[in-house]
Amino acid sequence: MNLPNQFENPYHSKVAALDNIYVTHQSLVEAINGITECISWSRHSLEPKGALLTGMGGAGKTTICQFILKRYPPVMVSTDDAHINTVPAFYTSVPSPCGIKALASSMLDELGDPSPGIGSASAMTKRLCKLLVECRTRVIILDELHHLLRTKGKVQGKAEEVCDWLKSLMNKAKVMICLVGTPSCESILQCGDGQMSRRFSHRHHLRDLSCGTSDHPGELAGFLQHLAAQYSLSLGSIAMPDFGSHKLVEQVWAATSGRPSFITLLLQKAVLSALNGQRTSITVGDLAAAFDSGVTIDVAQSTKNPFEMLNYELKDSVLSKLRVQK
Ligand SMILES: Nc1ncnc2c1ncn2[C@@H]1O[C@H](COP(=O)(O)OP(=O)(O)O)[C@@H](O)[C@H]1O
Ligand SMILES: [Mg+2]
Repeated sequence: MNLPNQFENPYHSKVAALDNIYVTHQSLVEAINGITECISWSRHSLEPKGALLTGMGGAGKTTICQFILKRYPPVMVSTDDAHINTVPAFYTSVPSPCGIKALASSMLDELGDPSPGIGSASAMTKRLCKLLVECRTRVIILDELHHLLRTKGKVQGKAEEVCDWLKSLMNKAKVMICLVGTPSCESILQCGDGQMSRRFSHRHHLRDLSCGTSDHPGELAGFLQHLAAQYSLSLGSIAMPDFGSHKLVEQVWAATSGRPSFITLLLQKAVLSALNGQRTSITVGDLAAAFDSGVTIDVAQSTKNPFEMLNYELKDSVLSKLRVQK
C-alpha cells in the first residue's frame, strides 16, 4: 500500500542512498585479504582451510561477506558437452534453532536444488556434496554462527553435531568454509576433540575503530573524514562537520564506541535533522539531536549527550575508558 504523499519525507530516499557508501579500514582490509588468501590456498592444499571472522553486532561482518562474494561471482562455463552454471561462492546464515537438516536445506536452496528440504539428513548431504562439486563451489560463507549458542554464550547441544558435519562437508566436497559470528563463537570451535579449532585456524577479528589521541589519531578519525567526504559528494552541496577536530572524534567515539553501523546511523540521523530544517550544513547540534533520538544508546559510553559535554566532562567520562581500551 502506498502512503499518501503528505506522510512521505522527501529526504528519506536521499539519506537511504548513503547506505551504499563503504569506507575501508585496517581490520576490514586485513580480513578481506586474509579470507581471500585462504580461499586461494585451499584450492591447492590437500585439506581445505577453514576461516572464522568475528566482530560485535554492527562491526561490518556481513558487509565483508558481500565484498568477498563479489570477488567470486557465478559464471557460466562451457565444456565440450555441457554448459555449467558455476557458483564459486555462496552465502547463507545458520538457521535458529539449527540442526544438520535445516543447514543442509538452506545450502541446497542456495545451489538451486529444486526440493531443498526433502529427504533424510544423509540423503540431503549426499545431494549437497554432488551439487558443490558440480557448481565448482570454492567457498561457503556461513554467517550468524552465534545461532549455535544458547543464552549466556553457552554452546547449544547440537553444536558439536553441526561442527562435525561441517568438517566432513569440507573433506568430502573439498570446499572451504568461512564461519562468521560474534566473538563468543570462538567457544564453538573449542567443542569436541580440538579438530574444529585446528581446521578453522585462520581467524580474523573486526575491531571497533579506535579513537586515539590528538597526537596519535586512531582509525576512527580517518574513517569519519572519508565517510563525511563521500556523504557530501552523494548529498551534493551539504557541508559536513569538521572531523579533523579530535574533540569531535572523541565525541563520536563516546556516542558509538567506534562501531561502524552506529557511526553511520548517527551521521545519517544528523543529516536528516539538517535536511528537515532546510539547512545545508550538518552541525554538532544535529549530532547531538541524533544522539538524543537514542539510536546509539546500546553502545554509547555515557548516558549524557557527549555532543553537549564540556571539555572536562568529556575527558572525565570518555578518556578514562579510552585508557582502559588501549
Ligand atoms: N566499512 C564500512 N563503511 C561504512 N559503513 C559500514 C561499514 N561497515 C559497516 N557499516 C555499516 O554498518 C551496517 C551494518 O554492518 P553489518 O556488516 O551488517 O554488521 P554485522 O554483520 O557485523 O552486524 C552496514 O549496513 C553499514 O551501514
Ligand atoms: Mg551480520
